[in-house]
Amino acid sequence: MAACSAPGKIILFGEHAVVFGKPALALAIDLRVRASLSVSDQYAVNGHPMRPKLHSYISAALDETWNGPPVRISTWSSIPSGSGLGSSAAVTVSSVGAMLTEKGECDVATLAKKAFEVEFRVQKRASPTDTSTSAHGKGVLVSPEQGDGFLWRISKGQQVWNVHHCEVPDLKFVVGYTGVRAATGPLVDSVRVLLDADKDRREDLDRIGDIVLQGVDAVRRADKPALGRLMLENHGLLNNLGVGHPMLDKLVAACEESAYGAKLTGAGGGGSMIALTDDPERTSAAIRRAGGKAIVVSVGCEGARLES
Ligand code: MEV
Repeated sequence: MAACSAPGKIILFGEHAVVFGKPALALAIDLRVRASLSVSDQYAVNGHPMRPKLHSYISAALDETWNGPPVRISTWSSIPSGSGLGSSAAVTVSSVGAMLTEKGECDVATLAKKAFEVEFRVQKRASPTDTSTSAHGKGVLVSPEQGDGFLWRISKGQQVWNVHHCEVPDLKFVVGYTGVRAATGPLVDSVRVLLDADKDRREDLDRIGDIVLQGVDAVRRADKPALGRLMLENHGLLNNLGVGHPMLDKLVAACEESAYGAKLTGAGGGGSMIALTDDPERTSAAIRRAGGKAIVVSVGCEGARLES
């Protein structure tokens, strides 16, 4: 039997814009998925016969990675699915990790590349941000240019993403989960449709790209007031791109008094927001009063790891 676990993530800056060639900064969190694999007489997931439509990521992971006999895969997750916290990426990375380990081929760059191919296959359009953050852990900057801390490069068609390690200082975040599940693929596609229809929205993408670079500097300085301001601006720009939700705005507004700043994280359309705070208890209480589920997360956590 081979087993692997992988973390979820929050995107601090740059979601959606990164799919269209801008940079993004993401941090691994202390919520994880564990996947184990053993050879069997039929393909099964969590005790049920595998159904490619229902088990889309695991089925695509097998197509991408596995050419051995039928296997049984079991997963365990502490990441709410459809919450914007990278649960699909963590399922993908942990499953691919278990498959590569069983084949004796598991290195982290191969894992990140294969996991991206799987997510792309299922979602039809994706950047490697979620999968590379889940594979590497800690902090990850994805950008069109190669710079300090370079880890690996992933490309698809014309698009090239350079993945970099980013040091993460001691920052405290509270996640506010709206309880509204949202699938990433259709949201990414809706942004593409909007960008095709309204060329002015390209300016929002450009500004998000600038925010990411300023955000990387602010993270290096651990400048929380600057990070908070940039988060609020990034949130407004994501609303302009049509991926907001009234509940996300309500949770972001609820954190105004106790947090440096807040924004939606991940694909949006529901899912989750994050708030940067020195007082996680007060911010959690504000999120709960506004109707969200508060989860205090640690950031900069370990990436994919083999499990016994
Ligand atoms: C989803 O967590 C992040 C998006 O930017 C999609 C992607 O990068 O693949 C919305």
